[in-house]
Amino acid sequence: MAKSTITWLGHSCFLIETNGASILIDPFLADNPVATMKSEELDPDVIILTHGHVDHVADAAPIAMRAGSLVVSTFEVCNWMEKQGVTQTHAMNHGGSHKFEFGVVKFTQAVHSSSMPDGSYGGEPAGVLLKLIDGTIFHAGDTALFSDMKLIGEEGIDIAILPIGDNYTMGLTDAVRAAEFLQAKRVIPCHYNTWEVIAQDGKAFASKLREVTGFEGVILKVGESVEI
Ligand code: NI
Ligand code: MN
Repeated sequence: MAKSTITWLGHSCFLIETNGASILIDPFLADNPVATMKSEELDPDVIILTHGHVDHVADAAPIAMRAGSLVVSTFEVCNWMEKQGVTQTHAMNHGGSHKFEFGVVKFTQAVHSSSMPDGSYGGEPAGVLLKLIDGTIFHAGDTALFSDMKLIGEEGIDIAILPIGDNYTMGLTDAVRAAEFLQAKRVIPCHYNTWEVIAQDGKAFASKLREVTGFEGVILKVGESVEI
């Protein structure tokens, strides 16, 4: 069996290939100054959206409508996507799990805000646990540090994807504490170096993570992949 792979497409956007399915999280490509892929090159089976902000949903509707992808998100984000013309959606909310063909998705809390690109109500922001055939991935979405990450950590996380850019989300120091709460042995940082205001040193994050927790920081370049 091929291992599941995680590819960073810049900002909070990741492509996960697992068990014969491709899952795209938080697509933000056309207006992302550091993106190396165009949305036209992607043909995902599923698109998962953590919240409604434009830097997480910008390319979702065009990709879903062209590729026939199923959009999985919160109730409010799914409603908005349907208004854009997306026909296949699966709405979830915090604490809810659902078994899809590729694995189980569970939505968690995130401490942030959420509005849609047109300013309409976007519900509550979320993080996402993906329980896949060969491991569990946690994509934290956009969030501050919060102590209930310890509860999420009790689910058993193999790889956590955490924002480190500061300003809009946790910065480097809080992301190290988050990794500790989550007990995530490997951490992929994201939501940094897209713009000057969220400039961070990924290697400095990995050093600090190792020093404080002993956990491994997986520092990807945009376009690079790692196996679970
Ligand atoms: Ni956001
Ligand atoms: Mn964001």
